[in-house]
Amino acid sequence: LEQSNPTSKGFNPHGRAVLITGCSSGIGRATAVYNAQKGFTVFATVRDSAHADELKNLQLPELIPVFPVDLTRSDHIANAFKKINTELEQRDLPGLYALIHNAGGGSIAPIELIDLEKYHIELQVRLLAPVSLLQTFLPLLRNARGRVVWIQTPALIPTPYVVSIHSCDFAANCLARTLNIELKPWRIPSIMIRCGGIQTPASDKSYRELDDAIRSWEPERYRLYADGLERTRKEFSEFDAKRTNPQEVAKAVYKALCATKPKHRYQVGHMSGMAAFLESLPQSIADWMISMRN
Ligand SMILES: NC(=O)c1ccc[n+]([C@@H]2O[C@H](COP(=O)([O-])OP(=O)(O)OC[C@H]3O[C@@H](n4cnc5c(N)ncnc54)[C@H](OP(=O)(O)O)[C@@H]3O)[C@@H](O)[C@H]2O)c1
Repeated sequence: LEQSNPTSKGFNPHGRAVLITGCSSGIGRATAVYNAQKGFTVFATVRDSAHADELKNLQLPELIPVFPVDLTRSDHIANAFKKINTELEQRDLPGLYALIHNAGGGSIAPIELIDLEKYHIELQVRLLAPVSLLQTFLPLLRNARGRVVWIQTPALIPTPYVVSIHSCDFAANCLARTLNIELKPWRIPSIMIRCGGIQTPASDKSYRELDDAIRSWEPERYRLYADGLERTRKEFSEFDAKRTNPQEVAKAVYKALCATKPKHRYQVGHMSGMAAFLESLPQSIADWMISMRN
């Protein structure tokens, strides 16, 4: 999309450490495993010991689970820093080569009915935690002439009923692009991996949560949105059948990590091209096109 993307032929992932958040499942797990297999030293954060054990049982020497890391907890982030710093010193590694923001959830609901507590958590995980992680780890990234990677939505377009996810993505897009400018003096690029539909447990989780939410909503307010939500659920389940394997995201991240001059945006996954096209239209036209489908 932007500048050329030469991959350094002599690039060697060995001896370079990367930190990936949210590695218990889906994109985070696939990216952690793939990049550890390729030779990066991967610090893979998870929230609980069971997921850490699952990663350990893969017996990849370069895959190091870091837990518990609940991104709503500043003490967990501080502890993760201590553990990672110690491990880097023990392995005689110069710093952190990449910080990969991946963790996130998100639910389906019209703005009028969003559960504010859940939304608050989502904002913490997707926006505040990445800033906190940057503030904590940037000195280590500077030491290794590293890069920042964001796993994100494919485009900034309004999509009804998923605003708790997309509003974070819009704001994270702002963080990622601004960071690119602020960190230019140290040549630390900020790279967005813009994912279309990826096959992960996230969609089933969000349908289960939607069913719970519907039971908790006042019936007369739910009825206002019932048809729209039903239509959306049907569209999403057709979309689900075509989602891309998360391994493709793992490969895109690897490409972005190995490129001498990485692009600012990589595009991967089902419908990511169409979404990017919609984003390229004037906002009024994109909004009108999307509203015609609802
Ligand atoms: N799937 C897609 O089509 C798609 C498309 C575009 C962008 N994305 C983005 O990709 C990222 C990964 O999503 P996914 O589809 O791979 O979903 P996923 O399989 O559900 O993975 C989400 C990860 O985030 C972790 N997480 C959630 N809340 C957390 C918290 N408070 N602290 C720390 N970790 C937390 C989860 O840990 P637990 O297991 O402990 O909950 C899990 O490891 C998300 O940011 C999502 O918005 C996904």
